[in-house]
Amino acid sequence: MTRPPFGKSERAPIERPIRVAVVGAAGRMGQLLSAAIEEAHDLELAFAVERNLAPLGEEARAEGEPPTRLEHAAPEELDAVIEFTTARAVPAIAREVERLGVAWVSGTTGLDEEGKAALAAAGRVAPVLSSPNFSLGIAVLRRLLERAARLLPEGWELEIVESHHGAKVDAPSGTALVLADQWVQRRPLDSGRSGSQVHGRSGRVGPRPAGEVGIHAVRLPEGAGEHRLLLGGRGESLELIHRAHDRSAFAHGALEALRWLTAQPPRLSIRWTTGRSKSG
Ligand SMILES: NC(=O)c1ccc[n+]([C@@H]2O[C@H](COP(=O)([O-])OP(=O)(O)OC[C@H]3O[C@@H](n4cnc5c(N)ncnc54)[C@H](OP(=O)(O)O)[C@@H]3O)[C@@H](O)[C@H]2O)c1
Repeated sequence: MTRPPFGKSERAPIERPIRVAVVGAAGRMGQLLSAAIEEAHDLELAFAVERNLAPLGEEARAEGEPPTRLEHAAPEELDAVIEFTTARAVPAIAREVERLGVAWVSGTTGLDEEGKAALAAAGRVAPVLSSPNFSLGIAVLRRLLERAARLLPEGWELEIVESHHGAKVDAPSGTALVLADQWVQRRPLDSGRSGSQVHGRSGRVGPRPAGEVGIHAVRLPEGAGEHRLLLGGRGESLELIHRAHDRSAFAHGALEALRWLTAQPPRLSIRWTTGRSKSG
């Protein structure tokens, strides 16, 4: 039997369909999530929320469609919030989650300190999971990198090339930052290695410092996302590549995470910049 990617459940699972609010419902991820929820027998699209937690337009809402105002939701109407929006939206969404006390899966990337603090505050009263990448393949890639960091001898170095669609607003990707940090944390830092990151290189940068991790962001008009890990040692190299062929990879993984999260106690699980998921 395969192990669930997020760990074992700590509370009894909900015995009826899990009632979910999708926040950012008109966005690329939000539309995919809403469609996947409507297809899943164990999930129910209870709210479809758009910008500033305001209605898309009540008059434009067809009969029978889910309500659009999260601020009017009562705690007993919802089991979970899933949110892929923008970093600026996160503090307001956190306040609603705190009020409702329901599970919150946040996929938004490029979080600032205010957003991270808001997630942490919500994590004190509700189960909250924030990750820059919900694809199951990336979860496995992280474990492979962790193994590689332990197995490869001193002298091996990592460079990351990430490629995304041109509409992505943050660079390098949050996933590339997590992977770089994970590698640095697993490598010994006792032989003058820098452990620093460089985002692209240009000009007379000099010889590559030992232990530096180079991250390079490619942006093309289309494409869901690629992370290429280039590991190099003496006389050989190794590449690990993950390609998300379309965004359904993230939607599928995020909904798996949501099912798991609704059976967890209040706690923030972070997958931002460290190899290990932190709890607080
Ligand atoms: N973790 C992962 O696995 C993963 C995977 C893919 C993407 N992402 C991240 O997820 C986020 C969204 O990506 P996307 O491609 O879906 O972007 P998108 O197409 O721009 O969708 C974002 C949606 O959020 C809405 N929104 C903005 N502020 C809001 C608020 N305060 N309340 C409710 N809705 C609000 C936007 O509305 P307006 O159009 O009116 O602004 C838009 O419809 C980005 O940060 C992206 O990097 C993460």
